[in-house]
Amino acid sequence: MHPQESMSVISAHSSVTDRRLSSLLRHLNPSSSSSSSSSSEMDSISASPTSGFDANSVFAHVVRAPEDPILGVTVAYNKDPSPIKLNLGVGAYRTEEGKPLVLNVVRKAEQILVNDSSRVKEYLPIVGLADFNKLSAKLIFGADSPAIQENRVTTVQCLSGTGSLRVGAEFLAKHYHQVNGSFIFFILFFLFLRTIYIPQPTWGNHPKIFTIGGLSVKTYSYYDPATRGLNFQGSMYICFLSCYDDFFFGVIGLLDDLSSAPSGAIVLLHACAHNPTGVDPTLEQWEQIRKLMRSKGLLPFFDSAYQGFASGSLDADAQSVRMFVADGGECLVAQSYAKNMGLYGERVGALSIVCKNADVASRVESQLKLVIRPMFSNPPIHGPSIVATILKDSNMYNEWTIELKAMADRIISMRHKLFEALRARGTPGDWSHIIKQIGMFTFTGLNSEQVVFMTKEYHIYMTSDGRISMAGLSTKTVPHLADAIHAAVTRV
Ligand SMILES: Cc1ncc(COP(=O)(O)O)c(C=O)c1O
Repeated sequence: MHPQESMSVISAHSSVTDRRLSSLLRHLNPSSSSSSSSSSEMDSISASPTSGFDANSVFAHVVRAPEDPILGVTVAYNKDPSPIKLNLGVGAYRTEEGKPLVLNVVRKAEQILVNDSSRVKEYLPIVGLADFNKLSAKLIFGADSPAIQENRVTTVQCLSGTGSLRVGAEFLAKHYHQVNGSFIFFILFFLFLRTIYIPQPTWGNHPKIFTIGGLSVKTYSYYDPATRGLNFQGSMYICFLSCYDDFFFGVIGLLDDLSSAPSGAIVLLHACAHNPTGVDPTLEQWEQIRKLMRSKGLLPFFDSAYQGFASGSLDADAQSVRMFVADGGECLVAQSYAKNMGLYGERVGALSIVCKNADVASRVESQLKLVIRPMFSNPPIHGPSIVATILKDSNMYNEWTIELKAMADRIISMRHKLFEALRARGTPGDWSHIIKQIGMFTFTGLNSEQVVFMTKEYHIYMTSDGRISMAGLSTKTVPHLADAIHAAVTRV
């Protein structure tokens, strides 16, 4: 290097060092002065709201958001140092030892994938892994589904159940409205067709997913707190109208609400194991719902987050969906592999849209790509590869159904153990809903004060609506929960 060049490098380097030193000095002692030029330079830097020197953040106005009502339960649980604490808030399966479970068949599939050196980590297509999509449609609609054979189902891989619902919502917000007909007809369709009716109550994320997805959200009656069962036909209620000194009789139930929903509205249905109530319609009631919805042109959007987890049978838990597909009508289905394959964190799911014919299905798929591309570009590869490996191998598939049934059976046995434990304690009230309800959750009927009491006195965590995850219980923890429920209902 030329001596002059090396001098200029040294001087440039030393001026950078000087600036750093003076910045450090100013930081340690704001009143210390340096050369006037570097001081004015520093002033101009610290005046910038995005510089690291200014305490006034451009985000200073951002208010702290509340914790998620479901995931926040785990946050509170994690902070509790008590050795007897019990988390029944989160909907994740635990073993008898209270540990998360990775299915053996999933471990096997992962080993196969790892040993296959031909596998690469390239991007998947926008719609995801083709094999996974085909097999997922077969799983929910049945291997011999005419809709699949007629190519009128389009299936796209999404980010678990949540992502599938979200993509479906945005697709509906963009494309589910008819523009032919009179202007007033158009306005009516525009106003009503993009409304989704969700059950009351429902999984807490549903209203947020559909609202952010661009749909307007309304509710339909679902749960009857008096019977802790389905509010299907409604029940007689008496309302005293003081202004008229009179009584008013009324009937409000699921069928009434769906009957008065505007023709063409979307209706969210939990395919099985309704969350949070654990209350599902019987097959006869599903048939009545189907007939009513088809006669009114209501569009079914199924959320299938628990296939196989409710009864232990993948086919039995898909019956509601298959009933609607068998009539040739259209519907949407969001599938999740979080619970039934224990792939919670892998975020594996699929959205299927059953259309009238193959041509519509292929156009729908082309538009789904336009929803997905700017949302997450294309989905992850590992999770769906595990699912596809299991679903396409008959031995692995059978192994999965055995492990799935074992999970469902353990949950059912927890229901019986808790019911018996309450009976043994003579806990006031009818607790038979614990054994009647289906799936991961029991909607206990405990009120929010009782929930707070149980958390404070017994370190038992659950959502404030009194929902408990039966999958988080074990033979060892049932007595502790039963003691807590007994104390809550007798003392609060
Ligand atoms: C009814 C219902 N739908 C969808 C989901 C979505 O789950 P994930 O996004 O983990 O698949 C859940 C999860 O708890 C659920 O209970």
